[in-house]
Amino acid sequence: MASTEPENNLIIPHNETEKVPNPEKPHSPTLQRRVAFFIADDVKEVVDNNYSSNGTAITADETTESSDNYDIEVSDKLPLRRASTIDGICSEMLKSVAVKPSPSATKLDSVNHDLNGGSTGDTPRAGGAVKSNGISGNHPTTGVENPMVEEAWDRLRKSYVFYKGQPVGTVAASDPSAEALNYNQVFVRDFFPSALACLMKEPPEADIVKNFLLKTLHLQGREKKIDNFTLGEGVMPASFKVKKYERCERVQETLEADYGGSAIGRVAPMDSGFWWIILLKSYVKSTRDYSLVDMPDVQRGIKLILNLCLSDGFDTFPSLLCADACCMIDRRMGIYGYPIEIQALFFYALRCAKQMLKEGADNKELLDKIVEKIKALSFHIRSYYWLDYTQLNNIYRYRTEEYSHTAVNKFNVSPDSIPDWLFEFMPLKGGYFIGNVSPARMDFRWFLIGNCIAILGSLATPQQASAIMDLIEARWDELIGEMPLKISYPALDGYEWSIVTGYDPKNTRWSYHNGGSWPVLLWLLTAACIKTGRPLMAKQAVNLVEKRLANDGWPEYYDGKTGRYVGKQARKYQTWSIAGYLVAKKMMENPANLMLVSLEEDKTISKPKLTRSASWSAT
Ligand code: GLC
Repeated sequence: MASTEPENNLIIPHNETEKVPNPEKPHSPTLQRRVAFFIADDVKEVVDNNYSSNGTAITADETTESSDNYDIEVSDKLPLRRASTIDGICSEMLKSVAVKPSPSATKLDSVNHDLNGGSTGDTPRAGGAVKSNGISGNHPTTGVENPMVEEAWDRLRKSYVFYKGQPVGTVAASDPSAEALNYNQVFVRDFFPSALACLMKEPPEADIVKNFLLKTLHLQGREKKIDNFTLGEGVMPASFKVKKYERCERVQETLEADYGGSAIGRVAPMDSGFWWIILLKSYVKSTRDYSLVDMPDVQRGIKLILNLCLSDGFDTFPSLLCADACCMIDRRMGIYGYPIEIQALFFYALRCAKQMLKEGADNKELLDKIVEKIKALSFHIRSYYWLDYTQLNNIYRYRTEEYSHTAVNKFNVSPDSIPDWLFEFMPLKGGYFIGNVSPARMDFRWFLIGNCIAILGSLATPQQASAIMDLIEARWDELIGEMPLKISYPALDGYEWSIVTGYDPKNTRWSYHNGGSWPVLLWLLTAACIKTGRPLMAKQAVNLVEKRLANDGWPEYYDGKTGRYVGKQARKYQTWSIAGYLVAKKMMENPANLMLVSLEEDKTISKPKLTRSASWSAT
């Protein structure tokens, strides 16, 4: 997708021709927002006769408002109730648009082009106006018609790991051509998209998810020792495998877990516990099996995870202090401190735990702590991690060495630490949560997981969520490129790479975690797109994936600035690349599936009273 931003070599961009866009309401009637998915946190809270046949609430109630700021004019009220799948919605939207050349229109044209089977394999860079004749619908999107989807389901099924005859997870990768290392294990974070795919399947395969939750809970209960050091009780494993051995001439099985002690670099799986709590909530939302959450062991498991994160200490921030390599980026990449991925997962898990922990005297103190933390953390992240054009300009003009609580530059960040690339990267419309905030340090890099999870857990306000999507759209070439999606941006190079990564040969520039492109992230983007009402963006990302992923053998990641090359050391048949694709497809087929991985805004959280920019303060 061609960038809509003109090239700009000024330090702070102020292009006369590019006016600051009007503030957008989260559900203001831009083309994307014309389709609003009101998917409640909990289905039982939603009783509404506006539902389409598949349970998706789709409204067209804002269609009469002015379209001044739109790239596309909509000629009439859209007959959205008939359009229940994303393809249907895209089709209805495109049928109704009038011809009006604009940057976004060229993007839509490329979607249209692709959907009509005219793809050339290249990311479209130029084009004309949106055609008014819509989409032929010949692009397969359902599991029945699409061989890629069928292959994915088949491969997902083959990745199941069985323990005593029951499926308990999925193997990380099944690449016969590469050394297994620990890719033959079930990783907690990797299983998450597999679990979602199983829950979204028709009919759902919920047993594997339940078994996984219970087996990992059991592993949490084991004594965890690394050398002479015992890990906290609540620590969840990074991964586990089924070990077979012979006893009395019979093959016996046991589960062997890795809590970080065997992993390359001895990395801490701080995200595992959060993914586990979030998955538990998704499972319950999908199955209504409340008995699982009510089990004393499960309640205890949740508490143990949170005890690790809610204990009093020396902190002056509500954010969680982490070692490097504590999450999906499980190698040294300069994310030590307070990485956005962990903060967003922490926030999401806190909100799930608040809903799942039983109320009563036993839990009162913990629940109070959770509520306090949710408030403090949301204020902290929404205020200090948020970066848009205006805030960047503020930081650029920061004074340093301010003393006392009246300091504007609270973390004493030197404007000289703002990297050059950022001034060009930051669009006038849009914003994002930066990678890390700590004393004298803002890591301005973009990290996709933290931003998408912040949208899904409603850590991002609706305005921020919308602005994040604006940024992705404005920086499509950089963040999506030829193969979705960049895990981080930009890449560290040269001296910076050597110092920050410790000369890591796997994390060279534009490779792996260092600016590599990970197909698994497609499900997160799709979910964020649906939540913010931007189905066309998701559709376009899925189209890119469909051009190559299966033919390339479902690699773990891609390398290069635009993600053109299969990753140097990427495994093939990586399960979460497969599952991520299936989850994206399932959500597009039925946007109500978003419900499994999305939380409504917590209305009790007050918004920080800071005036920033258009993308921040709109309502
Ligand atoms: C890599 C990834 C990690 C993932 C593991 C298994 O180490 O960095 O996030 O869990 O592979 O796929």
